[in-house]
Amino acid sequence: VAPGRVNLIGEHTDYNDGLALPVAIDLRTSVRFEPSRSPTLHLTTAIDDAPARIPVRPVPAPAAIAAFTPAWARMAAAMVMIARPAFGGSARITSTVAPGAGLASSAALCVALALALGVAGDPLAIAELCRLAEAAAGSEVGLMDPLTSMAGRSGAALLIDFGTRAWEPVALPAGAELVVVHSGVARTLAGSGYPARRAECEAATRALGIPLGRAALSDLVSLGDPVLRRRVRHVVTECVRVRTMAAALEAGDLTRAGEAMAESHRSLAEDFEASTPEVDDLVRVLAATPGVHGARLTGGGFGGCVVVLADPGAVDLDRWPGRATRVVPSPGASAGPADRPAPPD
Ligand code: GLA
Repeated sequence: VAPGRVNLIGEHTDYNDGLALPVAIDLRTSVRFEPSRSPTLHLTTAIDDAPARIPVRPVPAPAAIAAFTPAWARMAAAMVMIARPAFGGSARITSTVAPGAGLASSAALCVALALALGVAGDPLAIAELCRLAEAAAGSEVGLMDPLTSMAGRSGAALLIDFGTRAWEPVALPAGAELVVVHSGVARTLAGSGYPARRAECEAATRALGIPLGRAALSDLVSLGDPVLRRRVRHVVTECVRVRTMAAALEAGDLTRAGEAMAESHRSLAEDFEASTPEVDDLVRVLAATPGVHGARLTGGGFGGCVVVLADPGAVDLDRWPGRATRVVPSPGASAGPADRPAPPD
């Protein structure tokens, strides 16, 4: 069982060796694996009737991954290629993490599959395997989502430094509530502006000679391209805001935490250009709601969800039927009763 996540602040910082403050949530993906002597893994989900058949002896070659459809089967094939499970069998996937919402449904699937297939290791090692699996399936993402899914803590966010790969829990103040509201714009990361933003960040990293998460505002002057300057300004100021928000939460200062979220959204929309008009409208409505401390786009952007920090009950969930959910900071993934799958006798 592996949770999705909502990122409180620190967007597009993970692949830049910067900082983020995500929360593992009570929306989860489960994989129930029944090993057998079959050389194939038969995977089914509650949403797609057709099972995916993924060979385990031999596992799919890298060049064969792209041919698996739909997207979840591609991800599963990539994870099988990396996990090299000893057995085939049947596996059933169930999930409450909506795909395309910016709540890390892919990472939750990868982590749950890895654990179900018997991959063992510390959270960072498993997160790294999941990142490789997502890349092999065509989506170059950072470490934030699988690491949060692995390392989540009940009642707390994780302050992660992707430069040192260290993290620590930051307790959410009692009396604060997290709500996610879907903008109604679904997207896939690979099909969004995400790859283009990564490429821009990589170009800026090459030009500056240091990871953007370690850059300072004074480095901006050496960048000639105004677009790259704005991208870097987002990453640099976002990392400062992560520290501000973590300190505000620790001090129980929800007003300051909310201000950091508002600035983060502005920076993500204007400097990083990763928002949409629908998301901006939703953030505006939510931020103006009495009892709401802060609201911002969460996840990769270009659609998906808004995360809201609010007083309990301040957000009327019925105003967005089927699109608004209260989420609770939750523990990370677990492998369930059996650590390693064994074949039947
Ligand atoms: C997606 C990616 C993450 C991260 C965020 C943006 O969720 O999977 O690695 O880059 O976008 O912060």
